[in-house]
Amino acid sequence: MEETRRPWWETGVIYQIYPRSFQDSNGDGVGDLSGIEARLDYVASLGVDAIWLSPIFPSPMADFGYDVADYCGVEPVFGDFAAFDELISAVHARGLKLLLDFVPNHTSDQHAWFAESRSSRSNPKRDWYIWRDPAPGGGVPNNWISDFGGSSWEWDEATGQYYLHAFLKEQPDLNWRNPEVREAMSNVLRFWLDRGVDGFRIDVLWHIVKHEALPDNPLNPAWTPLITERDRLLQVYSTDQPEAHSISAEMRALADSYGDRVLVGEIFLPNERHARWYGTPDRPQVHLPFNFQLVESPWDAAHLHGMIEAYEASLPAHGWPNWVIGSHDAPRIAARIGEAQARVAAMLLLTLRGTPTLYQGDEIGIGKVTIPPERMRDPQHFRQPALDIGRDRSRTPMPWDDSPNAGFSTNEPWLPLNDDWRSRNVAAQDADPASMLNFYRLLLGLRRSQAALSVGSFRLLDGGPDVLCYLREHQGEKLAIILNLSSEPRSCELEEGGAVDGVLASTLSARPFDGTLLPDEGLILRLEPEH
Ligand code: NOJ
Repeated sequence: MEETRRPWWETGVIYQIYPRSFQDSNGDGVGDLSGIEARLDYVASLGVDAIWLSPIFPSPMADFGYDVADYCGVEPVFGDFAAFDELISAVHARGLKLLLDFVPNHTSDQHAWFAESRSSRSNPKRDWYIWRDPAPGGGVPNNWISDFGGSSWEWDEATGQYYLHAFLKEQPDLNWRNPEVREAMSNVLRFWLDRGVDGFRIDVLWHIVKHEALPDNPLNPAWTPLITERDRLLQVYSTDQPEAHSISAEMRALADSYGDRVLVGEIFLPNERHARWYGTPDRPQVHLPFNFQLVESPWDAAHLHGMIEAYEASLPAHGWPNWVIGSHDAPRIAARIGEAQARVAAMLLLTLRGTPTLYQGDEIGIGKVTIPPERMRDPQHFRQPALDIGRDRSRTPMPWDDSPNAGFSTNEPWLPLNDDWRSRNVAAQDADPASMLNFYRLLLGLRRSQAALSVGSFRLLDGGPDVLCYLREHQGEKLAIILNLSSEPRSCELEEGGAVDGVLASTLSARPFDGTLLPDEGLILRLEPEH
């Protein structure tokens, strides 16, 4: 049968690089673009298709690059345009794609636009940001809480108004209701697309427009002090406004005018509202609204079954799914569920229907990381220390080998390494056929060789207690994935699906299938075609 041509981002796998922590090439203890270039053979050896770089633009680093001071520049710590152009050519020469991180909701307070905006009430860029008078009785204009805790409003003494910031006060929110802002930001996208990038991950896309009247957000009845202060309120008026969807459609039209590009939107919302970010077939929005449900779900087979079923059911017919298990914001998967289950998670991520995004370091199972208080850097941590959110623990440098500083840098890295870096590093795992790294390579290779895994249909089966089980099928090729989410043996009868024809992969060592699963075992089985 003739295979319809699919866009690369449907069959491909995205690998997230956190530039500060991938490879340092100039000995300042911070990773950079030339460092990434030097490690591209490693990235290619994994079998991924695209690289997404967290922000590389000039930044005072209040939020480690998510506070952009110039959208059309390269942060000197990371390199310069020559290094960027070399990197993108080297990425493309290996048949890989490069996505940048577009941060549209807010700039740095050091951005020239904000300097102008705050210079006086009559400055032409005043309305590029969201300025308001104090409330009638004095104090902040409304009750909104920043995602990092505290009020979303910062007082500006010089001009006697407050400005809005959904994150740090060093990250003032842009006013996307202003057509000049929209035009300036479209020009930013054009600037990088003209330079050859293959798409963007778009930071906090659902935040970019606020309700015009800025009403108080309602209280969240489910809030407890164990969750972030932000969640005291339901972000009804500060996020997910209808106007943001038309902006997302405009961004898509711009990206599409460049051909085969992709937009991945960072969006945390319940399924039904999340699905709207795909837009409609005649007015599409982002290609992939990031789906973080594997990061957030309890690690339990029944729960995951229900979550996957509900997510699949929520997708519009033209919407392609996607899955994530780690990022620079989320706890490391191996720290959360342990190394044995992290292998099960890898098998799940790479066999579900939809585009997977891997986060650097998860492929070697980085888990245990200790950051002494004096080396902590994450601003979110400092604003809510009691919650121990600890994003630093997910941002430690890649350990490449057991040489000083793990081959990451000739100097002390900006954050400590993982506790076990002398044994858990790329070189050690490269040499061990049973390592997590080689297990990832096996899975990524299977995803490439078995079309059922990348583009096949998907059907959840009843796997019995603690077992997640599903079928992937494409043009007569039929695979069953059975995952034991417990550390006890389990049986799995595979009543539907057909006879087992072979084991393609195991999270443990390969063995013939006998209807049972060892503790923490996940299997990819080839089934005989039904007649
Ligand atoms: C999401 C990013 O992933 C995170 O690192 C950042 O702090 C916030 N957006 C604010 O830009």
